[in-house]
This record gives sequence, C-alpha cells and structure tokens, in this order.
Amino acid sequence: MLLHDCTWAEVAAYLSTGKGIIMPIGSTEQHGPNGLVGTDAICAEAVAHAVGDAVGAMVGPTIPVGMAVHHMEFPGSMTLRPSTLLALIHDYVLSLAEHGFERFFFVNGHGGNIATVRAAFYEIHAENRARHGKDAPELRFALANWWEGDAVGRLSREFYPGVEGSHATPSEVALTQHVRPHAIKAVAMSPAVAPAGGFHDARDFRRRYPDGRIGSNPALARPEHGKRLLEASAAAIAEQYRSFVTES
Ligand code: NI
Repeated sequence: MLLHDCTWAEVAAYLSTGKGIIMPIGSTEQHGPNGLVGTDAICAEAVAHAVGDAVGAMVGPTIPVGMAVHHMEFPGSMTLRPSTLLALIHDYVLSLAEHGFERFFFVNGHGGNIATVRAAFYEIHAENRARHGKDAPELRFALANWWEGDAVGRLSREFYPGVEGSHATPSEVALTQHVRPHAIKAVAMSPAVAPAGGFHDARDFRRRYPDGRIGSNPALARPEHGKRLLEASAAAIAEQYRSFVTES
C-alpha cells in the first residue's frame, strides 16, 4: 500500500488498524561502468514495495537523494549534506507522526546514509520529548540495509564468489536490471575486478577507483539474479518488519 496511491480517508482507515510505515531511502550517485546513477534508490524502493506488499504495510515516498559527497567527482552524482538529510528525515517523520504513525521502518539502499539516518532518529527522539514532554507519543525506528542478511549473502556468494566488492556491486546492479530491464547496459570493464580498499574524499575516490567500482565485477550481474536477490531481501526484511511493529 503506497502512501502516494491512497486518499486521506484510506490513510485514516489504515491508522485505525496499525501505526507502522515503511520508508525507502536511497541515493543518486555513480555506480560504475554499467550501474545506474539511481541504483541505490531503485533497489531500496523495490525492496520496500515488496515488503509492503508482503506484510500489508503502508510505504511512504522514497527519499531518492542521500549522503553521497564521496561520489561527487563522477557526473550525475547528487548529495545532501548530512545536516540536510538529517533535517529532511526529521521533517518527514514528524509530519507522519502528527497523524498517528509511531513505528518507522527505513529500508536503506546506501551505506553512506547509515550514520546520518541513525543520528536523525536521536534528533527526533529529542524533539519529540521537547515538544510533548511526558505525553510524547512513543516513536520507534528501525533501519534495514537491503543487501544485508544471510539469504542475500548466500546468493551473492553463489552468483559472484569473491567479486561482490563494496561499491557498484554485481548484486545491486542485478537488482536494478530486474526492476528496470529497459536500462540494462552492456559495457566492457578492465580490469574485470576493480581494486578494493578505502578512500578519503571525492577526489581520492576517483583517483583510486577511476571507473567508480570498488572490489567488484558487476559485469557478472544478470536480471534473473536480481529477481532472486530482491525476493530474498524482501522475505528477510518482511520478518524484521513484523517483529518491529508487533513488539511491545
Ligand atoms: Ni549502491
């Protein structure tokens, strides 16, 4: 059930039976030679929508741009400053909390968002207490990264042994190939497996990883892998969501 596809009356009816909402959050940033700039937003949205369908939960609008300052040496990348992203999450959540939503389950597509999303949860707790004192509604938050979990890890090791890497991974490229088959790219890559390691800032990232990949071979991505990765991720996260909204 997508918030965007509901009327206000349908939202009111939903709130009479549950207080949970799923919030997809992605990023708009380079993903190597064959990965789409929208990869992280596309993956988070696809998994969040599948989870929403599986559990009958409301799914909020996808946050399409995240904290990606380290990708800014590549054309098309966009970033929010951490402070902007924090303020955006604060305002999204407190808008929904005004109507009675209390349990916010973020499905995340981008590692660079994690620290800021967690900081935003504490910022909201502080603001909620400041506004309402002892009568504050009991807001709760969870964050699930779609690529984590045992089942997704097993598939990744089966499909891409030793070459999943940490950015522009074959798993995330495969998931976008399944969801957006019209945008599949065939691109030769050299070397086949990108160098692995860390980085400091955007310029250092581009110097170390000139085509945008870290440790990965996304040429191995296939849409049929993406279908299975999506199903595995959604099944695991649906279980997490059920526990989150039913725990006392
Ligand atoms: Ni990504």
